Amino acid sequence: MKLWGGRFEKATDGLVDDFHSSISFDKRLFEQDITGSIAHATMLGEEGIIPAEDAAKIVEGLKGILEDARAGKIEWMVDAEDIHMNVETLLTQRIGDAGKRLHTGRSRNDQVALDTRMYAKAACRETEAMLEELLGALLDIAQDNLHTIMPGYTHMQKAQPITLAHHMMAYVQMFLRDRNRFSNAYKAADVMVLGSGALAGTTYPLNRERVADLLGFSRISDNSLDGVADRDYMLDYLSAASICMMHLSRFCEELILWNTNEFRFVEMDDAFATGSSIMPQKKNPDVAELIRGKTGRVYGHLMGLLTVMKGLPLAYNKDMQEDKEAFFDTRDTLVKGLTVFTAMLKTVTFRKDVMERGASGGFTNATDCADYLVKKGVAFRDAHKVVGELVAHCLNENKALLDLTLEELKQFHPAFEQDVFDDLSMISCVEKRKIPGAPAPEMVQRAIDAAKAALKKD
Ligand code: ARG
Repeated sequence: MKLWGGRFEKATDGLVDDFHSSISFDKRLFEQDITGSIAHATMLGEEGIIPAEDAAKIVEGLKGILEDARAGKIEWMVDAEDIHMNVETLLTQRIGDAGKRLHTGRSRNDQVALDTRMYAKAACRETEAMLEELLGALLDIAQDNLHTIMPGYTHMQKAQPITLAHHMMAYVQMFLRDRNRFSNAYKAADVMVLGSGALAGTTYPLNRERVADLLGFSRISDNSLDGVADRDYMLDYLSAASICMMHLSRFCEELILWNTNEFRFVEMDDAFATGSSIMPQKKNPDVAELIRGKTGRVYGHLMGLLTVMKGLPLAYNKDMQEDKEAFFDTRDTLVKGLTVFTAMLKTVTFRKDVMERGASGGFTNATDCADYLVKKGVAFRDAHKVVGELVAHCLNENKALLDLTLEELKQFHPAFEQDVFDDLSMISCVEKRKIPGAPAPEMVQRAIDAAKAALKKD
């Protein structure tokens, strides 16, 4: 007999039981579900909505179920549909009639929203901690490489010299913003919705504030329809996760490129690479590739849930049960991705010599050459043209700008003097860029200090 079976004359078709049962995946919410029920029952007893002895029995019974569930001792029942009815059924089996009072003033609709909000809050905090670990690893690499010159790119063409520290700090900014997004997603989830009932609140004088307090929510929801129909907090997590995966994926893409024979900027540690079953020489960056690939499934979950929600009239509709697999798989993928990425990053060897050599090819100091002429009084647009002609000349001669003699340089513009050679060295090109946000070591040091302070602050 179903808990809701009173008005039914026939049993549910086995196909339907199998189709709509969510216990196979929402059993993951047992901790939240039972904790939420303990708070609800406590409040019902305190307010005299159910007898205090019954409330005490319910709380005891639920604690026992929670312990057994944690120990993996409970066999969840498919025909009890979902985690909510599984727990209630089990409770009544264990403590008798008092268990039947637990659901007073509550619906599964507000219950499932409560459970998933609690789960989402924990997932946000967990992700923030993992991002902090990753940020720490990035800051360490940055601190050690303030002077490690490398080429910066636009259009995948060498553009201007930067440092490895500056490049790492770009990712620090991205992951700091991600951390912020998860902290905002936490705030969105941090609203206690019990008391919304099925959709229209309840006639019992529930003390909603008390339940919020017991469960560590900072506020209660303002509208009962919205309380059961809202899944924005999940979408906030999914979108923060999508953006975070996008950042990880870009970083992976760079590591994959840098690890190629063509770049050779990095060497992946053996422990984070895999071989080929046929080609004995291969050492593939599979971990980075898989993170890049898994980004697709996280985007898919975001699109999936947005699409589930877009046509739903208020308030609860069963379609919303589809939120959970999307959410759980996103959380699992993100956690695995962040964990393995941070571990991998800590083992990457940066080939500083190759990076530095890479910086000096490809006329990365051409902008500085134009800026040099500007310092000598030439207008920037004229200087740009002169250096363009110089580059064309060097390409013909297969030379770099600094391979030319002062006499040769002077043929292109009389303003060139001996000091040009120092001025256009890679280290000088980087050190001259010392406005806020630029790659000069002293400015990157400032950025590192600011990021460390931001990490400590909140
Ligand atoms: N298993 C359901 C879900 O995940 C719980 C809420 C069901 N409510 C209902 N009236 N069918 O959404």
